[in-house]
Amino acid sequence: MGDMNIGVLTGGGDCPGLNAVIRAITQKGICKYGYNVFGVHEGWKGLLGEGLVKPLTMADVANILKLGGTILKTSRTNPFSVDNGPARIKENIAKHSLDALIVIGGVDTLGVAARLHQEGVRLVGVPKTIDNNVWGTDRTFGFDTAVNVATEAIDRVRTTAEAHNRVFVVEVMGRDAGWIAIESGIAGGATMILIPEFAVDLEKVVQCVAERHKRGGEFSLIVVAEGTKIKRVAGDPSVVTVDDEKDEFGNVRLGGVADKVAEAIRRKTGFDCRSVRLGHIQRGGSPTAYDRVLSTRYGLYAVDMVHSGEFGKMAALKGTKIVPIPLTDVQKGSKTVDQELYETAELFFG
Ligand code: F6P
Repeated sequence: MGDMNIGVLTGGGDCPGLNAVIRAITQKGICKYGYNVFGVHEGWKGLLGEGLVKPLTMADVANILKLGGTILKTSRTNPFSVDNGPARIKENIAKHSLDALIVIGGVDTLGVAARLHQEGVRLVGVPKTIDNNVWGTDRTFGFDTAVNVATEAIDRVRTTAEAHNRVFVVEVMGRDAGWIAIESGIAGGATMILIPEFAVDLEKVVQCVAERHKRGGEFSLIVVAEGTKIKRVAGDPSVVTVDDEKDEFGNVRLGGVADKVAEAIRRKTGFDCRSVRLGHIQRGGSPTAYDRVLSTRYGLYAVDMVHSGEFGKMAALKGTKIVPIPLTDVQKGSKTVDQELYETAELFFG
């Protein structure tokens, strides 16, 4: 197996811990199995022939454990939305003599991986995303860091909200799953937490805040996930978007729901309201110790999966163990916040 070539790519939105995975793969691949490890740049773009594919050396991965972003760069390129995409991917895999791929991605990137595997590509997956919404794994790496960043921000907003007797609405990321909102909201003692899993009636939010202030509360702090749908008088509940543009996976750009919630509260109660959007601050910077360890374990496990030929599978965290699960599990959709956790959070609303 000494002259085996493995390619590594990072796709979709970046998240803290990507470099820790790349380092672990490179170190174990080279030092334990004697593989040649190649970095595929800019996600699937690299294998469509539009990005670099070049060797990863031990020197390349020195000192990157705690670095945010990804030394391999990333993109939201979808090979299934471009002409001859899958065929071009296979051609480039052959051109670079890659015997196997390790694909580090979220729901979109791993969904592509699952389909490519069905078309004969030898690959394994590693679940990343600050959103924690990949099906079949208890945790994605990057999530813990995002929750900690959001919690720190909420703690900071709380002191200024209290000083001014204001209502603050903090918008965190979470397209279709409210994991960051629910965990940072619980950790930050939020007055209310609004998540994409349950469409929101603004009247009820206003009522909750008004009652709290009637009981003597002088300030409020609401945490809302960017993908939370607002109920409308007519029509289906809808998300708040920045514009109409969609990426190659059909995702719209979300943003602005906190402004809507704050405005509704201000209009109905007259309270002094402010909104804050944390945005990409949650995705940047150094991973927490937890994410560095999880990323490292995922990377090491992925190399072992390649070594034992467990293609078409993803490294998943189940309890405290990393186990292989079928990549097709990611196609089951987004792993969302369950009712039980929401009810735990709800006990502290108001
Ligand atoms: O998929 C992770 C995520 O951070 C989402 O929570 C968010 O909606 C999206 O990425 C933002 O994407 P972009 O970086 O393309 O603006």
